[in-house]
Formats: sequence, C-alpha cells, structure tokens
Amino acid sequence: MDSTGTLFMPPGRSTIAGEVDTLFYFIFYTSVVFFAIVVFGITFFSIRYRRQRKAGLTSGLAHNTKLEILWSVIPTILVVIVFFWGFKVFIKMHVPPKDAIEIKVTGQKWFWTFVYPNGSNSLNELVVPVGKPVKLLMSSRDVIHSFFVPDFRIKMDVLPNRYTVTWFEATDPGIYNLFCTEYCGKGHSEMLGKVKVLPEREYQAWLESGSGGGEGKTPEEFGAELYVSKACVTCHSVDGTLLVGPSFKGIFGHVTQLEDGEAMVDENYLRESILNPQAKIVAGFEPVMPTYQGVLNDRQLDALIAYIKSLKE
Ligand code: CUA
Repeated sequence: MDSTGTLFMPPGRSTIAGEVDTLFYFIFYTSVVFFAIVVFGITFFSIRYRRQRKAGLTSGLAHNTKLEILWSVIPTILVVIVFFWGFKVFIKMHVPPKDAIEIKVTGQKWFWTFVYPNGSNSLNELVVPVGKPVKLLMSSRDVIHSFFVPDFRIKMDVLPNRYTVTWFEATDPGIYNLFCTEYCGKGHSEMLGKVKVLPEREYQAWLESGSGGGEGKTPEEFGAELYVSKACVTCHSVDGTLLVGPSFKGIFGHVTQLEDGEAMVDENYLRESILNPQAKIVAGFEPVMPTYQGVLNDRQLDALIAYIKSLKE
C-alpha cells in the first residue's frame, strides 16, 4: 500500500506505515472473502435444504472428512501466516534504530509534555525532523494514557511507574494529529496534540531557539498564547464557564473561597497555584491540577500571570 488515504486511515506518513497497511489489508480482505463464503453458504444451504412440504428429512449425513480437514487446515495456515507476519512488524515497530533521536514523552491529565535531547521542552506539540528515526521514551504522571498518531500508524500505551517505547521516522514535513486513546478521565477528549515534522535545518533552529517563544510580544499577548499552548485552556475558561478548574475571568485582585479558609488572588497566589497546585484548593474543585514546575520558565510564568491579570470581569 502506498501513501494514499483510505476509509480506515489517513495517508501513511512514516516509514512503517506501508508495512502496517499491507498487513492490515491482508487481514481485512481475507476476512471479507471468508465473510462472503460463510454468508453465501448459510443462504444457499438454508434454501437448498429447507423443510419441504412432504419430502421429509434429508439423508442422515454425519460428516465429511475431506471437508473437515480443509476447513481446519486452511484457516490454521492463514492464522500462522498472520501471526509470524504480525510478529515481524511488531518487533520492527518496537525496536528503535541505534541512531534514533530520543525524546522523553510524559502524559498526564490532560496534556503531553515533550523533552528534547538538549533539554528544551514543548507541550502538546511534538517537533521532529523529517527522515530521521525518533525514539519516544514514554511514561505517565497519573493514569494510563495512550499515544496515537494515525498518520504514522503508531500507538502505544503510556503507563505510570514504567517506561514504554515506540519510534517512527516521518517521511513528509507537515502537521499531524496526536490523540490520547486510553480513557483517562473528564478531559480525555481534550487530550489532543500535534506532531510537527520539520526539515532537518528548521528542526535544529527550533531546538536552538529554546522553544521559549514570546519575542516581540507584550507579556499579556505571550501569556494568552501560553494559555493555549501550555494547555491551561483544557481546564480553565476565560469567559466564566466552569470547567475542571475555576475560570480565570475576573479572579485577579479578588478574595477566593478555599476548601479551608480563603485567599487573596494576587501574583504570588497565581505563581504558587501554577507551580504547587495542591497548596490551595478552591472550594468546589478537585485537587487534580498537575504541577508546571520545570515546564514553564520564569518569563513564561510572568506572562501567564500578566494575562490572567488582564482578564477583568
Ligand atoms: Cu489521556 Cu485519554
């Protein structure tokens, strides 16, 4: 199979996609053939041997050795072929080449964090070079998530307390969808990301820029951008709607009711709530927010706080 999309999958955009598709369609069309044979057989026999008005019963046919051997041996051979073929592709998909770029992937409720070999990081957007094998070393901070990029035909569970590994080599620059495919709570359907495949030189430039961003923007503008790119948007609205967490609208400068007592929402309150979210829990909300320690640098923190301050009632 080539890189054209079908009813089942978008066009393949990784080196493994062709092999996965060929195996998939082998199983698919084999199943279609047997489905047709079985449906035809059922229909044919139920008409041919239906109860006739007076003719009585058919002869007492007990078995047919030749037929029984055939319908046991042929499916067995097919199953064995699919097993060894599938095993070969499975191993290939799970053993990364030695020269692969290693990127650490962390899944948590409800976003993805990527840490690159030079220490820079990104959220919900995995940036990789085209034509280079990329190994993903994955783990979860909370429950089981699953990393799925349909265009690359790779999908792997992401577990707490253990690393899982997958790899791919993208064949075309572009932006591809990344999904979480393990139900992981309220925000599961929002746990979406992108894989951005860049030409090698642009990837290097992106890495060196430190991915901090925000040049030429006011802190409020940069904060508004981070609010989306760092996934705050998943749980906090800016229009007063209540999601998993409190809305940001008009909270700054006001007293908020906590589970135990109350607190003034000022710069330090916001900073603490971003870096140590369990310290103060707003009344009526679950303590589910992950820490952004190590994810946001100081300049980004300042910008986010500036943005929240700007969201007046
Ligand atoms: Cu993470 Cu579903």
